[in-house]
Amino acid sequence: MLKDKKIILAVTGSIAAYKTPQLVRTLVKAGAHVKVIVTNDALQFVTTLSLATVSKNDVVTDLVKSDGQWQNHVSWGLWADALLIAPATANTIAKMANGICDNFLLATYLSARCPVFVAPAMDVDMYKHQSTQQNIAVLKARGTYILGPDDGELASGLHGFGRMLDEDSLTKALGLFFINNKKLCGLNIVITAGPTREAIDPVRYISNHSTGKMGVALADAAFNMGAEVTLILGKGALPINNKHYKVVYVDTAAQMLETSLLNFEKANVFIMAAAVADYKPAAPSNQKIKKKNADLNLLMEPTTDVLATLGKQKKNQTLVGFALETDNELENAKSKLKRKNLDFIVLNSMRDNGAGFATDTNKVTIIDTKGTILSLELKPKSDVAFDILNTITQSFSATN
Ligand code: CTP
Repeated sequence: MLKDKKIILAVTGSIAAYKTPQLVRTLVKAGAHVKVIVTNDALQFVTTLSLATVSKNDVVTDLVKSDGQWQNHVSWGLWADALLIAPATANTIAKMANGICDNFLLATYLSARCPVFVAPAMDVDMYKHQSTQQNIAVLKARGTYILGPDDGELASGLHGFGRMLDEDSLTKALGLFFINNKKLCGLNIVITAGPTREAIDPVRYISNHSTGKMGVALADAAFNMGAEVTLILGKGALPINNKHYKVVYVDTAAQMLETSLLNFEKANVFIMAAAVADYKPAAPSNQKIKKKNADLNLLMEPTTDVLATLGKQKKNQTLVGFALETDNELENAKSKLKRKNLDFIVLNSMRDNGAGFATDTNKVTIIDTKGTILSLELKPKSDVAFDILNTITQSFSATN
């Protein structure tokens, strides 16, 4: 999976550093050329000799060599196809987030142009601490890939998130990155996500439980696979910290329709993951509706179905819809695929644990117009996103 990829493994001072010779071996077995940076603190847990032996390369710690010569962090940074910092301590993560550059690793990090992967390893409360979480969020927003940590028993005896991902998972994550990377280069992908909100009066609205997580995962994955991405995001979705692709915020189903139509022509792929309201109050009040001692009847009228409208206008676009069902799942999804003139429909069932709104995982079934049904297991939404995009890509190569 990593044939001829040049990888810098940077080891920092967490107890998990003792596992890194095995990590080097796994990366090398997967075909990678590995060079290792080890910080002074990490040398308490692992030796230069063991890392040099398994990587068959020199291992560097300091900015100045023992003969007084400069250790060239710039050429290290430019050499690498990927920089993997594993284990990454809270301290190193904090320094990376703040641009601090007081060792060879951090100088190489600032010089590197390649993708950066960080595998945090620390005790559970250090990981959960607001400052660590904020620093991780800063790195994520800059496009750094955060791998793990895992849940389990920690060196302190406490249980929780903080374990470094094992060597197979780290190697697989890097492998998948290189397989998927740039696969969608040259494609314009538009994704809708999150809920819409329909005003009842100036202070109240009707909406749904969508957080936008699945659509945002799709936008992130499409960007990472090289596509030009536009995300049309309902204002009620969870906040996102993105600097890489265009985000257009919308509120109502009508705005979702208008923005989708504006972006449809340029799209090669249009994925409608938003939870669009089917009905809206027919006559929203201009003033706050006052409480009265009587029932309140709201007359609702249908909104326009965005996806069906796009389906009617479709030329060369690949149009993908979602279906969230509670019963007769396959039948309902197939009928929506046909009715809305889609190329694929991604089915979620509310009956599956860990699937649906607000979760970090999803369990989906992808159905195409030929009747092919691909049922995927429960996995993180980020992985589901890659699977959906890969399925679409495969259909492209099958038709070309
Ligand atoms: N959709 C849309 N515009 C709407 C309603 C839904 O574009 N006004 C899209 C959704 O984004 C989703 C697909 O249609 O991609 C299916 O949505 P879903 O709510 O499952 O189905 P509906 O068509 O609304 O039918 P029902 O609510 O009866 O299941």
